[in-house]
Amino acid sequence: MSSNSTPSNGATSAPPSTGAAPVARPKTTGLHVGDAVPGVAKVDPIIVADGIHRSFGGVTAVDVEHLEVPRGAITALIGPNGAGKTTLFNLLTGFDRPDHGTWTFDGRSLSGVPAFRVARMGLVRTFQLTKALGLLTVMDNMKLGATNQRGEKFWASLIPALWRSQDAEIEERAMGLLKKFKLDAKADDFAASLSGGQRKLLEMARSLMTEPTLVMLDEPMAGVNPALTQSLLDKILDLKDEGMTVLFVEHDMHMVRHIADWVVVMAEGKIVAEGDPESVMKNPAVVDAYLGAHQELDLGVVTGRIDIVEADPTTDAAASAAADAGSLVDEGVAEEEQEEGK
Ligand SMILES: Nc1ncnc2c1ncn2[C@@H]1O[C@H](COP(=O)(O)OP(=O)(O)O)[C@@H](O)[C@H]1O
Ligand SMILES: [Mg+2]
Repeated sequence: MSSNSTPSNGATSAPPSTGAAPVARPKTTGLHVGDAVPGVAKVDPIIVADGIHRSFGGVTAVDVEHLEVPRGAITALIGPNGAGKTTLFNLLTGFDRPDHGTWTFDGRSLSGVPAFRVARMGLVRTFQLTKALGLLTVMDNMKLGATNQRGEKFWASLIPALWRSQDAEIEERAMGLLKKFKLDAKADDFAASLSGGQRKLLEMARSLMTEPTLVMLDEPMAGVNPALTQSLLDKILDLKDEGMTVLFVEHDMHMVRHIADWVVVMAEGKIVAEGDPESVMKNPAVVDAYLGAHQELDLGVVTGRIDIVEADPTTDAAASAAADAGSLVDEGVAEEEQEEGK
């Protein structure tokens, strides 16, 4: 994996805390090659995107010339509302199709690959608006994560004997993850009974059912009770410690500074800046493009207070509909039928 886990100057060597105080973990440095300009090459990119363009009617939502996401690190994607962050997530994960553009994940092209197959390849994402299915139990939500994304044979799953052993294995894995996310006591509760923050945790736990290599989180902190934010931050840092790559969208600059190794700034569909958190936040272009547009909305956030940011339902509504469990299962069935018909 990455050979670049040198602690940055920003990391302290404080002993692990047992209290609620945040513990600084080493930042991953040495991620890029040459000057930290928009589109800069990475030493070991897991995503390489070129000429990704998506417009809605006459409005260009995404126009990314070149983007590389460093492997084994936590990258924050920031930018004002409407910058195109969620649309870019939708495109990279197969929930939407670009007008043109190509991209690879782990060296394999993802152009035209549907979302359920992208997930099987090891790239999962969560949604700005959580997608936990309220009328299913927490455990059933977890199991759905496995059946939708892991891609075991759908027809085989209808044969009870096969299904039972597989189900036990999946349940065990689910319970392990629920414990980790402190949701195990809620396993039999309906997801609808969880708080907003717990639903975010459930969505993240569910995305891990497939043992992904890249996890993309769209505003994981939005709507989360401040009491849960530190725990969520720790979970994201854990993902990196376990060898996963994380790309997340976040408005909260305090959080970005705290956990991101690398920051990519979008404005009006384009990548306008990249760099480590400290230099990006000092960049006057970023202060203009990002903070300028956020002055009324996010002043509290900018000053480092963890705050609740309103989710923007526009792009998420469409992608959520596409990601609906039913539609994923249907697609899986169609694919199995196609494969078996050969
Ligand atoms: N399905 C859609 N239909 C029409 N316009 C959309 C759609 N999805 C996104 N947009 C527009 O694309 C732009 C980028 O939106 P989005 O990706 O949600 O930005 P961000 O996540 O950075 O806030 C916005 O102007 C938004 O209104
Ligand atoms: Mg968004």
